[in-house]
Amino acid sequence: MSIKDVLRMGDARLLQQAEPISDFGSAALHALLQDMRDTMHALSGVGLAAPQIGVPLRVVIFGVEKNERYPDAEVVPQTVLINPVLTALSDEMEEGWEGCLSVPGMRGLVPRYTKLRYQGRDENGALIDRTVGGFHARVVQHECDHLDGILYPMRIRDMRDFGFSDVLFPGQDLQDD
Ligand code: NI
Repeated sequence: MSIKDVLRMGDARLLQQAEPISDFGSAALHALLQDMRDTMHALSGVGLAAPQIGVPLRVVIFGVEKNERYPDAEVVPQTVLINPVLTALSDEMEEGWEGCLSVPGMRGLVPRYTKLRYQGRDENGALIDRTVGGFHARVVQHECDHLDGILYPMRIRDMRDFGFSDVLFPGQDLQDD
C-alpha cells in the first residue's frame, strides 16, 4: 500500500483518545494495517499505533525480529492488536530507555509495569490473550499509550533522563521506535 507520514509530538492528533474498532475483517481495516506495516518497516520501528499516522482508531502493531545488530535484544512476535485491554499483574515497575517514531532522535527513561496481561483482537477478530514481561511488556504499554493520547515523555519521572539519542548514547546507531 503506502508509507505514511508519522505525526510528530506537538500535533494535537497524537493527544486524542482513539475509538474502538467494531468491524473486523473489513477491506478498510486491512488497508490501514498494510499502511501501518509499510510505514513501520520503512522506518525500522518496533511498533506503531494508528493515531501516529493520523487514524484515530484503537489499532497497534509491534514486533521485534532476531537482529544481528542487537543479538541480545528480546524477540517479540509480530502482532496486530486491536481494542487492547492491559492489566498489570503486579505493582512492580522498572525503568527502561524508550524512543518513538513521533519523537525522532530522542530517548527517555520511562517506568513501565514489568508483568502484564494484554487482551484484544487481531485483524480478523480472533481473541489475543497473552501474559508477558520485560521488553515485550514495555513495547505493548508504549504502543497502547498512543491510543489514549499519551507519549512516552509524559511518563518520564526525571526530565534529566530525556535527551538526544546520539548525545546520550554516542557511537550507537540507535533507531527510532
Ligand atoms: Ni511511540
